[in-house]
Amino acid sequence: MDRIRITGGRPLNGSIPISGAKNAALPLMIASLLTDQMLILENVPRLADVAQLQRILNNHGVDVMIGGKKEGETDFTGQTLLLSAARIVDTTAPYELVSKMRASFWVVAPLLARMGEAKVSLPGGCAIGTRPVDLLLMVLERLGAEVEIDAGYVITRAKNGLKGGEIVFPKVTVGGTHTALMAASLASGTTTIENAACEPEIADLAACINKMGGRITGAGTPNITIEGVSKLGGARHAVVADRIETGTYAMAVAMTGGDVLLQNAAPELLQSALDVLVQAGAVITPTNQGIRVQRNGAGILPVEVSTAPFPGFPTDLQAQLMALMTRAKGRSHITETIFENRFMHVQELARLGARITLDGDTATIDGVPKLKGAPVMATDLRASVSLVIGALAAEGETMVNRVYHLDRGFERLEDKLSACGASIERLTG
Ligand code: EPZ
Repeated sequence: MDRIRITGGRPLNGSIPISGAKNAALPLMIASLLTDQMLILENVPRLADVAQLQRILNNHGVDVMIGGKKEGETDFTGQTLLLSAARIVDTTAPYELVSKMRASFWVVAPLLARMGEAKVSLPGGCAIGTRPVDLLLMVLERLGAEVEIDAGYVITRAKNGLKGGEIVFPKVTVGGTHTALMAASLASGTTTIENAACEPEIADLAACINKMGGRITGAGTPNITIEGVSKLGGARHAVVADRIETGTYAMAVAMTGGDVLLQNAAPELLQSALDVLVQAGAVITPTNQGIRVQRNGAGILPVEVSTAPFPGFPTDLQAQLMALMTRAKGRSHITETIFENRFMHVQELARLGARITLDGDTATIDGVPKLKGAPVMATDLRASVSLVIGALAAEGETMVNRVYHLDRGFERLEDKLSACGASIERLTG
């Protein structure tokens, strides 16, 4: 099992290319099931989750080809995937595949919309919470499907096709909104969604479906309308930049000090996180190449943050911000409002000398003058990168174990950081 060794105390200087967003690439790949034509996705990140989803799509009969290297590409240029679901040969997504990558549950929508049936394993919980899918099933029922749960599988049918309907989400759900977009696009009639998720990845999926011939308006706002069409065609679409990767590296620079250009990053995708970084003492400068992040000299200032659906502070950056606050001059509070168990990184950060106390959904962080390296263990994707951020500023050596969590969502993290001066290396085996 790979580990990552970091020797802290070095500033970050240079530039980091930001990859395509994992949380856009996954629904976009699933959208290939909506058409028998070829969907070409550019700027796809090379991540374990993307590879796992390719296996799941292959199981349904989707051909996934990888475009070859083009003139002028660098090692960090995203890959191009050519996906073709000419014939869907299997409408079952088995437990052994879905349980490895929860978002693959979202295949239920295009399978049902295109084939009139689907049998998809319930994804089960994960480290950060129970992760129910009741609202995704509500969507399918609102669009006229029969839904039953049997032996850990969702079995759903719509023999006469899906019908447009009115969907009102009682709480914001990214997966629920993706499910509604994909199912409603091939339903007959009009679907309206109220209280839709506004994350940039929603707008990215809607833009792609519209290129395929879909008729979605309002994506990116809480109110979306979808005019169903009988068929969708192929398209070419580039995956939006990863706002979570952007925010993660911005926090790393704020933590170590230095001056880094985050290439291809787009400020409007994570403005709330950038605002918090400015409050913490970083200097954020949007440029026509991306976002420049600096923190030179002055200390890290404490902040008060609650996570919230977009455009609020993203839950996927909560662990990273907590790592930064371990070195702040004073007391910070971070409240996690989205998931019920997303503080797994607290105990591991404490091993580096952080002073954090928990009271329900709120963490209180008392900044310490320095952290000291230690062996730590990654528990989930974003928690693992918070340990890397802590280690980059800790005195001495830190060994991060179980880095397969990192590989799910951060492309070539050690290469990107070592190119900016970090002492970080991967130990394989
Ligand atoms: C997506 O997960 C992301 N995953 C998550 O990123 C992200 O943290 C989350 O959205 C919130 O932004 C992908 O895009 C692949 P939700 P999703 O449905 O869609 C509750 C990462 O690190 N809920 O918006 O599963 C749910 O329990 C991952 O990249 C229901 O109650 O999240 C949670 O409390 C982690 N019933 C809240 O809604 C449902 O049917 C938000 O969940 C669905 C969700």
